[in-house]
Amino acid sequence: MKATAKANTNIALIKYWGKRDEELFLPMNSSLSITLDSFYTITNVEFSRNLNKDIFMLNNHQASESESNKVFRFLDKIRKLAGTHLHAVVTSENKVPTAAGFASSASGFAALAAAAAKALNLELDERELSILARQGSGSACRSIYGGYVEWQRGERADGKDSYAKQLLSERDWNISILSCLVASGQKQVSSREGMKRTALTSPFYSGWLNTVEKDLERAKEAIRLRDFESLGKIVEANALKMHATMLGAEPPILYWQSGTMEVMHHIQNLRLSGISAYFTIDAGPNVKVLCLPEDEQRVYESLLTLPSVQNVIICHPGAGVSYL
Ligand code: PMV
Repeated sequence: MKATAKANTNIALIKYWGKRDEELFLPMNSSLSITLDSFYTITNVEFSRNLNKDIFMLNNHQASESESNKVFRFLDKIRKLAGTHLHAVVTSENKVPTAAGFASSASGFAALAAAAAKALNLELDERELSILARQGSGSACRSIYGGYVEWQRGERADGKDSYAKQLLSERDWNISILSCLVASGQKQVSSREGMKRTALTSPFYSGWLNTVEKDLERAKEAIRLRDFESLGKIVEANALKMHATMLGAEPPILYWQSGTMEVMHHIQNLRLSGISAYFTIDAGPNVKVLCLPEDEQRVYESLLTLPSVQNVIICHPGAGVSYL
């Protein structure tokens, strides 16, 4: 009744922003990501008759109440699926620098879904696992797979056609993703709250919905052709467009810090000097820079010269879920 799974986190190239169903985590739009090799979560789940409640340990400490409640609500969904009432001890180790403000919910819920399903002998295939992980955190459904991954929004109300699938494996196209830390500490508005408020109140949200599927098609075509320039342009513009929708929310949401701006301008200047590099930013202040492996060292060193950059971690496309 126990199992351990490892999942890598992922960075969205075309963002998931807004839900049409809060309970089932059904997105308004399809999205696309790269699973990363350097940031991951390892989770052990053990169900037992000797427990009268669930326990969630994160990095050797009892997790906070809000973190624990998300995990316990997710366990409820798995228990329902498996037809059991057993409680569990969940022990997670996050190799995502959480203090660094990088997202860990994608790797966290992908690893939890995989370990819990295995512990209960659910024998889910990858698609079913993706559907399950989605109901812990939307972006987690993409971390089931390695490499370049698309999450199709689906049309059904029950969510059975809203899952991720692999476009290219991590071995098919190597690019560099440089994770730049410009601010640590908890952000004010979670992505869950941020996307909800934006979808409900921003006049720019309809512009997002009207154009994001086209961005996705263009990004998929660029990936198919291994056309880094075209991909970079679409990715950078899509991230800025998502942030523009937030600026129109009521009250407005601004995740950027001055360091965020510094990195963005730096990357645009690098391009003027002939280096092909592009940025993307999730619901937070830190920036991910995409470049080709042959430029990786130069881009890395140039980022470290910026006063606001505290740390840069080099990542590449990584693998999907595995069992330990
Ligand atoms: O699934 P969440 O709650 O981690 O939301 C992810 C939202 C973004 O990171 C901004 C975009 C994305 O597609 O990952």
